[in-house]
Amino acid sequence: MCGIVGYIGEKCNLKRVLINDLKTLEYRGYDSSGIAIYDGNMKIVKSKGKIAYLEEQLESIKINDSNIGIAHTRWATHGEANDVNSHPHRIGCVTLVHNGIIENYSELKNNLINKGYVFVSSTDSEVVSALLDDIKKSEHDNLKAISKLIKMLEGSYALGIIFDDDYEHLYAVKKDSPLIVGLCDNCNLIASDIAAIMDHTKKYMLINDFEIVKLSKNEVQVFNSELSLVNKDVLEVSWDINHAKKNGYSHFMLKEIHDEPNVLRDTIIEYIKDTDTLVNKMPDFSKYNKIHIVACGSAMYAGMVGKYIIEEYANIEVSVELASEYRYKKNFYDHNTLVIFISQSGETADTIAALRKVKKDNIDTLAIVNVVGSTIAREADRVLYIRAGMEIAVATTKAYLLQVAMLILITLNIAYANKKLNRDELDKILVEFGTIPNAIKDILDRKEECFDIAKTLYKSKDIFYIGRGIDYALCMEGSLKIKEIAYIHSEAYPAGELKHGSISLIEDKTNVVGIVSKELLSSKTLSNIEEVIARGAVITLVTTDDLEDNFSFPCQKFVVKKVNDIIQPLLIVVPLQLIAFEVARIKGCDIDKPRNLAKSVTVE
Ligand code: AGP
Ligand code: GLU
Repeated sequence: MCGIVGYIGEKCNLKRVLINDLKTLEYRGYDSSGIAIYDGNMKIVKSKGKIAYLEEQLESIKINDSNIGIAHTRWATHGEANDVNSHPHRIGCVTLVHNGIIENYSELKNNLINKGYVFVSSTDSEVVSALLDDIKKSEHDNLKAISKLIKMLEGSYALGIIFDDDYEHLYAVKKDSPLIVGLCDNCNLIASDIAAIMDHTKKYMLINDFEIVKLSKNEVQVFNSELSLVNKDVLEVSWDINHAKKNGYSHFMLKEIHDEPNVLRDTIIEYIKDTDTLVNKMPDFSKYNKIHIVACGSAMYAGMVGKYIIEEYANIEVSVELASEYRYKKNFYDHNTLVIFISQSGETADTIAALRKVKKDNIDTLAIVNVVGSTIAREADRVLYIRAGMEIAVATTKAYLLQVAMLILITLNIAYANKKLNRDELDKILVEFGTIPNAIKDILDRKEECFDIAKTLYKSKDIFYIGRGIDYALCMEGSLKIKEIAYIHSEAYPAGELKHGSISLIEDKTNVVGIVSKELLSSKTLSNIEEVIARGAVITLVTTDDLEDNFSFPCQKFVVKKVNDIIQPLLIVVPLQLIAFEVARIKGCDIDKPRNLAKSVTVE
């Protein structure tokens, strides 16, 4: 999704500063970029394509040292990705960048056209710059003008604004889209997320909806929509900048898969000392007899894994819902329902909207989030942070793993409260949980086995992932990974369901990945695998070492160590991630920034 950066401070080579800061947001996904710098004149350079292309264009443009500028990476929602629709947009005395969607833009645009405004782009964002310019005609105070502006806008926005009558201040305001302020000694910054300020400072402020920010070189003022000053906490970035670097790996995704042992340890360490520690550290779930898990994409697939383990081992009914559907459908929840929202970024628009709907109904909410202080983390009643550090690759790996790990911890806590596990049993599982980081390390040490499997899959037109129960839930993530980074069509299918229709798609040499990790279901799944083999399928099996002798059909396989069923998913998913990575690498795909995808989908 789009990224915004803005600078106000000592005069400097702002072209270089803003481009560097913008590059740290590339991982969010974009299709065009642009920059606006005032160096005595307002200079705007913007274009479709990568930031590197924008950089090339900037080389031939003289921009003197400057004290104020804004920059933007766009993920098009209104108007195709082209130069004229790129940001910044400048009309009259207003230059701005925008992340989000203005839902009433066409009505506003018609009114402004009737007033004589001429638009060159098809974007909703250009309408905002014209509207603010129009407001300024009768309201000279910039803060009051912005306050009037936001009362007229419907939809989502994070705006970085420069007014021609005040080059000593940078202004910003947000609703639903993310925005932070970076605080430095001789400058201050606005940005979509922490990555963009980390080269300057670790000090930042989180901006809430409808708060208006006025920044100068050495002062940050935050106002509410009625223009009263608001006191804001200054926070300190806890992440290691190395999380934002490849550290010698070919791709961020490969590095982040290799981060998994350490970040899993970082996430679970505070909970797994013993039963009392887990119980004291976790929220009290005893009042709930139903759980809804609401998320998007891989976060939702993590929720599917959570469903199987919570229902099976904690004996609570769980429904898992796509946030984009949940927010519009009739929901059956009551005060004994807990709604858990899972989100790596904490800024996914659909998940935020679903959370706000549930909160409006006064239902208890819990968030499982990676980005500290993100919107979902702040707005849920409770938040359990995973500690993945920055996840730069658009396709999630370590964050998904930790979302599953957090759901396992929740399961164990509820299972103990519901007397489905006694103290000794739980203590034993917690000890084994502590061995999983090393078990993942062992899998990573065998990554060549996964890479060899990938060599047999990369030419596939379609790949089926099949499994039963929790293995089917794991298939969902395995299938999404191969789709989103290797662009191979794939389906996750319940192994028992194939014969009810989709088996007609199986033909000679169709690749099928079978996941078999539970003794109880293995014989059934293995029969389903025989069924597809009988129709020409070529099998890749991901299974556990206690089951690997249960079948005799020809296949290639990756075998992981058998551990307690509740924590087994953490080992199964790693080879799925490695196989997808290597297939995409062989195909020469843009693994860290797959086409059309965004790291944080902050639009609906
Ligand atoms: C992850 O591989 C996907 N790119 C995507 O499905 C992602 O999981 C989804 O957009 C949810 O993002 P979130 O966890 O930041 O809310
Ligand atoms: N809706 C705006 C546009 O299409 C901004 C999209 C974004 O958030 O990048 O230009």
